Amino acid sequence: MSEKRKIIIDTDPGQDDAVAILLALGSMDELDVLGLTSVAGNVPLALTTRNARIVLEVAGKKDIPVYAGCDKPISRQLVTAEHVHGATGLDGPELFEPTIPVQDKHAVDFIIDTLRSEPEGSVTLCTLGALTNIATAFSRAPDIAGRVKELVMMGGGYFEGGNITPAAEFNIYVDPEAADLVMKSGVPIVMMPLDVTHKVLTTKERVAKIAALNTPVSKFVVEMLDFFERFDIEKYGSDGGPLHDPTVIAYLLKPDLFTGRVCNVEIEVNSELTLGMTVVDWWHVTQRAHNALVIGDVDADGFFALLTERIGRL
Ligand code: BDR
Ligand code: CA
Repeated sequence: MSEKRKIIIDTDPGQDDAVAILLALGSMDELDVLGLTSVAGNVPLALTTRNARIVLEVAGKKDIPVYAGCDKPISRQLVTAEHVHGATGLDGPELFEPTIPVQDKHAVDFIIDTLRSEPEGSVTLCTLGALTNIATAFSRAPDIAGRVKELVMMGGGYFEGGNITPAAEFNIYVDPEAADLVMKSGVPIVMMPLDVTHKVLTTKERVAKIAALNTPVSKFVVEMLDFFERFDIEKYGSDGGPLHDPTVIAYLLKPDLFTGRVCNVEIEVNSELTLGMTVVDWWHVTQRAHNALVIGDVDADGFFALLTERIGRL
């Protein structure tokens, strides 16, 4: 068997973050989850950190460390999304006070130390929220960017536009300066924009298959999804909500489910109208250097088959 892929999951749970974490935890034959790092985003940091710990406990993986990260963007006020995720960030299931500790070390220090101590090119960063922790780590320790194997992010949108403003996707909008720094870091980047996440919808049929697993974890997932999709069904008139963040983990497990294009991506950090927009040169109309593999399509049924099977392992 090939070596397990070492990952750090940087996250702001969020129901879809939680499902992404569970997908990783159900895939421990392939993935070595070195730690979860929380960041402010969907809800403030205290809640995203708590939610990350709740998810680990639900999955019975109490040995994975959780590090609390930045509580606000690099140079802006925090924008949150309780209107999507509820007041706790994880509305839906009955929540409990988690018992696993938050590590003393700051998430940014954990990211820096891990990248320095693990072999060069062996650690993958999976980002499911604003890029504040990662950008802070890269600017504080410029030596680490060259040591990252790959950064797979959920963020951005191009043909699909934005979901927090007409032009911007939430994770990029929360901290555009951080996203800009990361996009310019030279790290190999895979980007999961709304163009692909809007294709993985939690239809009744797909959720029924997860429910049929009939385990405490599947029940937790279904209760989260029931809450989460409410907002999106109303907003997009679609059958189910988009399961954004799990696409990041699914890509690590089965990259063949996805197709995309290597191109240049720039982040708008100045315009009031289009702040946080990901300007994707999909058609290669500029000479700007390629800095990301931008995913545009997915085998959605294959994605849900993988997700359901892995949740069933927990
Ligand atoms: C992204 O924003 C958050 O609300 C979700 O968790 C996801 O990471 C989608 O735009
Ligand atoms: Ca998220």
